[in-house]
Parts: sequence; structure tokens; C-alpha cells
Amino acid sequence: MNSESSGFPRVAVVIPAAGRGERFGSPKQFQTHLGWSLLRWALEPFLGLGDSLVAMAVALPPGETARGLEDLAGHPRLHTCTGGASRQESVRLGLKLIAGELRPDDVVLVHDAARPLLSGVDLRRIAELIARTGAGALLAVPVRDTLKRAGGNGLVEETVPRSGLYQAQTPQGAPAHLLIEAHDRALRAGLHATDDAAVLEAAGIPVHIVEGDPLNFKITGETDWKLFTALARRLSGRDNPSTPSPRLDSGGSPPNSPSPPGRGGPG
Ligand code: C5P
Repeated sequence: MNSESSGFPRVAVVIPAAGRGERFGSPKQFQTHLGWSLLRWALEPFLGLGDSLVAMAVALPPGETARGLEDLAGHPRLHTCTGGASRQESVRLGLKLIAGELRPDDVVLVHDAARPLLSGVDLRRIAELIARTGAGALLAVPVRDTLKRAGGNGLVEETVPRSGLYQAQTPQGAPAHLLIEAHDRALRAGLHATDDAAVLEAAGIPVHIVEGDPLNFKITGETDWKLFTALARRLSGRDNPSTPSPRLDSGGSPPNSPSPPGRGGPG
């Protein structure tokens, strides 16, 4: 279903942001750079969709209601809830939160709060593909390195052919009715998946790979954070930032543009 004015599909986003950042050492989704939390960076390309963005659901850790989203306070399409014990549960709760706002064919995308450098171009490509095919899709990049399987003793056991292998990224999604049904089925079946494509696959829904960009990497540890901060400055042309608009291609200003970020480095 297209949004009324543009011909571009209606899109909703669910951001699971309820992780505890165990590998990172703190909840990384709230770490700030150029005045925005990682979570806010992850949301920015979706805000660039303008009127096509019909709902945003953000699942936060217990006790948090708006942390990391300060400049979006009062945004009419933003909904927050407390996430669950797993990423899958946080996504399911986020979906439930906005289900009443959705039409069955709306494109629903799930995007990790830990991926701050999604491009507006890739976001539009995956949304359009889901709308066109009525199936599921995910962004992914081909595996570029040779893969080795190690045995318990640290010795190489085998070289795994990399042909046809991809690293899954987010966003991942499907038309609303399929994604909601797939998550309900996963809950009933006791399926524990680490991404939404696996939830769709388990429900027998075809999932297309949309080749993405290595820059849309997930921040897991300190090295990723350093890479992100260096890249964010270069991509925004702000080695010395003093103005907003950290993304270059998110497709326009968000409905509720942030005030100029301060110079908050990590932490
Ligand atoms: O830990 P990992 O990086 O795989 O988490 C991916 C995303 O899932 C993060 O945005 C994290 O905040 C979120 N998450 C969640 N609820 C959990 C665990 C992780 O929303 N219980």
C-alpha cells in the first residue's frame, strides 16, 4: 500500500533497543556521538522518509521511557515500550505496540539500535522491494574473507566455501501481517532466533537478500565504536562539527529536526 502523496510505500519501523550491552560494557544504544545517542542515529534514516513513515516503535530497557530520544519528545509517530529478555521478544513487543496503527500491507522494518550508519538509499531499496514482492527481505553483504572452522584445539578443521554466504544486517522486514504472524508463530513454537529473517523463514515466508553496504555495520565492541566515530565525522563532512544533519542521504530533514548537537564524544 502506497503512502497517499509520494507513491512510496507506507513504512513502520521497530527498533529493539533494550539490550544491556554486555559485550560493550554499558548499554551502547545510549552512548552519544556528535550529540546524538546511537539509538537516535539508527532512527535518523527512517525519519528521512517523511510522511511515508507511519509509526516508530522503540523497545527500551526496563525503567527507560525516552532515553536517547530527547529531541523527538512528543513526536506523533513515536511509541516506546519496555523490551523483553531477548531481542526477539523486544521486537515482538514493539510490533504489538504499533499493530493498531498498521494496515496489513504496510512495510514493517526491524532495525538494530546498534547500526548507526544505514543509508537512506538502502532503506528505500529494501522498503520498495518488500512492497513490490509482498515477501520478506533483509539487507546483507557477501562474505569477503575466506572462512575457517576451528576445532576446540584452535587448529583449523576446515575451510568453509564462502560462495553464496552473506552476513545479515538490518533492516529486515516484511508486510505487517506476515511479520506479526511470523512472530506469533515463533512464540508459540518456542523458536529462539537471533534475527527477524529467521523468524520469517521458520514461518515459510520467502526472504529476499538485498545487497547492502559494509558501512551499515553493527557496533559490538570498542573497535566498532572507534570506526563509527571516525566515519561519522567524515561522512557528515564534520571533522569539527557545529551543525546538525549528521547523515548526508537520509532523504530530507526529519519532521522534528534535532537542535544542533553538542560535542558529546563517546560517553
Ligand atoms: O546484542 P546485540 O547487538 O545482538 O543486540 C541487537 C539489538 O537488539 C540491539 O539494538 C539491542 O539493544 C537489542 N536487544 C533488545 N532486547 C534484548 C537484547 C537486545 O532490544 N533483550
